[in-house]
Amino acid sequence: MATFGSGNQNRRNNFDSGITMEFDRLLIGQPGVARHVLPFVQMFEAGLSPEGRPAGVFLLLGPTGTGKTRTVEALAEALHGNVRNILRIDCGEYQMDHEVAKLVGAPPGYLGHRETQPLLSQARINSVASDRSALSILLFDEIEKAAPSMMRVLLGILDRGLLRLGDNNLVSLERTMIFLTSNLGAESMQKELKPTMGFAAIAPVNDTVASNQRLEAIGLTAAKKKFSPEFLNRIDSTITYAPLDDKAISRILELQIENIQTHIDTRLGSEAFELDLTGRLKRFLIEKGTSVQYGARELKRTIQRLILQPLAAVINDGKIPSGALVEMDLKNGERILIRIHPGDEEEEDT
Ligand SMILES: Nc1ncnc2c1ncn2[C@@H]1O[C@H](COP(=O)(O)OP(=O)(O)OP(=O)(O)O)[C@@H](O)[C@H]1O
Ligand SMILES: [Mg+2]
Repeated sequence: MATFGSGNQNRRNNFDSGITMEFDRLLIGQPGVARHVLPFVQMFEAGLSPEGRPAGVFLLLGPTGTGKTRTVEALAEALHGNVRNILRIDCGEYQMDHEVAKLVGAPPGYLGHRETQPLLSQARINSVASDRSALSILLFDEIEKAAPSMMRVLLGILDRGLLRLGDNNLVSLERTMIFLTSNLGAESMQKELKPTMGFAAIAPVNDTVASNQRLEAIGLTAAKKKFSPEFLNRIDSTITYAPLDDKAISRILELQIENIQTHIDTRLGSEAFELDLTGRLKRFLIEKGTSVQYGARELKRTIQRLILQPLAAVINDGKIPSGALVEMDLKNGERILIRIHPGDEEEEDT
């Protein structure tokens, strides 16, 4: 690797460690992901990405609700400061060969040429980069659903980092990182996971490692069956996600509670208050919002129903004085209880 001038290198190291920390904070319990993805980000930021291809191409496999899409959002947040800096292509919308025109635009003279703005135009791709980083993130969700014509477009992109649009213009994808997600093998993985259902917390570490290796083998076999060798050869890393363990799930819950507090602090301004959830309510949320079958997929919705909605009702009734401590608890194993402790007395003490 090249050596940089020390000033530049310091700046880069700071920049990179910021990205790593933020990524680790947002994507929980999948340490292998950062190890695979972040070195490619680092190469890009250092100007050392190879020419004539995207800056990194990753195939993300694994059970539902374990953080595949979250990975891409976490990278967008870490790189650009915004989870929305992603160009997402839902391959389920391109299952028919003619639909590829939505991606690359129709050739001149064809019906609809003027109306079809290609989704993969240079302007669209550049619009998801930012002042902080020139790296655009492209997400192809559910790649196994893509029509053969779309797979050909994709193969061209992975091969040369270039895309020819319907109007013959060339788009460069050298400054993009491409993530392909797929549920390939997910069903067999689910079967593999079933026997351990409910025992994740007490499963010996070796069992977990062996089970994760079996998931990886299932994912790779399914990918080899579905995709051509040329396609798989152009992928920098195939990453299989492990089921989330209890520790990861608790941290995901804590992260989501922190997000609510940040929301309260920024949105409610002088009306803001402090939110506190009891341990038994947290355990209840985990029980309701997570499962072997859906990972942490339902956690957000559960929090919305059991925390945000009751909280909103109390806020709208004007019952929470600013600076109060709002404690939420579980009563009789099923009812949500809200206790409001006005913050004034405590403040007077200081
Ligand atoms: N590893 C994780 N770290 C942080 N949050 C997570 C993680 N896994 C899941 N979540 C939470 O669960 C939600 C669903 O996860 P995500 O969308 O990443 O699932 P997925 O793996 O893409 O599943 P699918 O195969 O169904 O698309 C996320 O929005 C996030 O709130
Ligand atoms: Mg997903």
